[in-house]
Amino acid sequence: MPIRYNLSRRDIILVLLGAVAVHLLPSSLHHGRQQLVVETVCEQPPPNPIEKTVYRTKTATKIATVFQPTTTTVGVQAAPTAGKAPLDFVASFPETHILSHFPGWTLFRDVYVSNGTFYIVSDQAVSEFPQIPLMISTPLEAINSPENIEARMPTKDTLQFITPAEAVRRWGGNVRRGEKNRVLTVDGNTVLVNEPGQFLGHYYHLCAELLIGVQAMLIGAVTPPSTDGSRDFDLMPKHDLAFPAPPFVDRFIFARTNPNGWRDRPDFNVYFMRAAFPGTTIEEENGWEDRMIMTATGDRAWHFPRLLLTDRSASHRGEICGSRTQRIAAEAVEGMRKQGKLLGVRVGGWWAPVRESILRFAGVPPMDETAMMVHNKALAKPSKIVITYLSRQSTPRRHLTREAHLSLVDALETLVKRKGPNWQLNIVEAERLTKDEQIKLAARTTVLLGVHGNGLTHLISMRPNALSTVIEMFYPGGFTHDYQWPTHALGMRHFAVWNDTWRTEGVGEGKPRVDYPEGFQGDYIPVHGPTVADLIEDRVEGRIAGI
Ligand SMILES: *[C@@H]1O[C@H](CO)[C@@H](O)[C@H](O)[C@H]1NC(C)=O
Ligand SMILES: *[C@@H]1O[C@H](CO)[C@@H](O)[C@H](O)[C@H]1NC(C)=O
Repeated sequence: MPIRYNLSRRDIILVLLGAVAVHLLPSSLHHGRQQLVVETVCEQPPPNPIEKTVYRTKTATKIATVFQPTTTTVGVQAAPTAGKAPLDFVASFPETHILSHFPGWTLFRDVYVSNGTFYIVSDQAVSEFPQIPLMISTPLEAINSPENIEARMPTKDTLQFITPAEAVRRWGGNVRRGEKNRVLTVDGNTVLVNEPGQFLGHYYHLCAELLIGVQAMLIGAVTPPSTDGSRDFDLMPKHDLAFPAPPFVDRFIFARTNPNGWRDRPDFNVYFMRAAFPGTTIEEENGWEDRMIMTATGDRAWHFPRLLLTDRSASHRGEICGSRTQRIAAEAVEGMRKQGKLLGVRVGGWWAPVRESILRFAGVPPMDETAMMVHNKALAKPSKIVITYLSRQSTPRRHLTREAHLSLVDALETLVKRKGPNWQLNIVEAERLTKDEQIKLAARTTVLLGVHGNGLTHLISMRPNALSTVIEMFYPGGFTHDYQWPTHALGMRHFAVWNDTWRTEGVGEGKPRVDYPEGFQGDYIPVHGPTVADLIEDRVEGRIAGI
């Protein structure tokens, strides 16, 4: 495949997932029908090498599958404890309801799984439910080929609709003879992650994508809608001001990865999962396969009273992820936001329960809400401006040239010296700090600065203030939404810098086109230090317009 050689495999997949995204085009099709549109795009680099960086060298096959979009909020609010009674002798099983759904994120009540197939048990028409490919996929690794895209489409072995009568016929005991039903209830709240380890083993993808989406879904499910903006500045859902627990999850099931599949090398994923969900059981593919073996005869089923199903490929079939952001969490967050169910959307309040659990574990004192607000519609400015530059100079890939790094350090030091004692500069190589130190530093950082890379994931631990800022340095011409999207989702400001130019939402033409030009991953990324220092000063002094 004539793909630029200096892209990592992950980047190729991400950019192509965007390119091959399945688009939701309403009104073009009858309910429940799908249509495959295959279109091949070939872009050749131009002969003039000067223009090279603005072109993409790739051959992409664009497949657009058109689904009728379904905005569904069926049934009642999620209650934390449900389904305690075993289904031993019931004459009919509880029907499946969907509490909330966005592409790739589906919160079920009373869903069933038997021999690896999900069952929606209902007498309602199939058209009352979201379309299956927007809920679930065959859990294969994503690669860019029409065959793979087709292979990831769900089949009748992935998810089926059956009537309650059929469910009883398959899994019911003969009640008159005193036989129990052959359905076992898996009590409590389950999050089932239906994707292989391809992305999960990255701090960014697990914590800044999956967990953000999970949190938006779970908090949104128990939040009455409010669309008048009155709760946009809630720093924290109000049940426990110091360190509230995130929504209760009894178990995560990483159904398609082994125990290493969701762990990243520095172990931030473990840190986040265990600190945010300390009592939650984590089951992996062996456990899931056990459950499938137990029901392999097809006459038994598992019953999940409450299950959040997440599916990466299904998110990419949605318009927000597939066409606009390439971020799976964007479907959940944007969807819940539109319904007015994310408290504190302007200040990351809905994320705060997870963030504060992490900060508590790291040893950060509880947040002082009074000090963080000027009034109930605006965040306060921080008493100290803390700039944290995450240097990647010791990593082999994707870092600044030596001159650029030195020019940046020099410009930042000059700025901070000129500004006086209320300004602080930290220049850190994250890998030299402990995890606790990294999280503590992120929590008190005002301006997080770095070359595009995993270290910027720490933005999810930043406590918001009026000046919270993430500055991401790219190779000129490069851009992705990896950090731009979560920065905005959590109520902070993102700037993309290319050497001596920058852009942010609300200024100029807004965000640029996603691109990975040659040099994106290189060790020769330029940056003009004074441009970055001026940008920080202008931002802090309120001289930048926009959102
Ligand atoms: C259980 O699933 C396997 C694998 O998909 C399949 O081969 C088998 O026929 C299924 N068993 C029943 C009873 O449907
Ligand atoms: C970066 O910007 C500086 C300042 O405008 C300029 O002198 C330099 O040539 C630029 N470097 C690159 C690689 O574009």
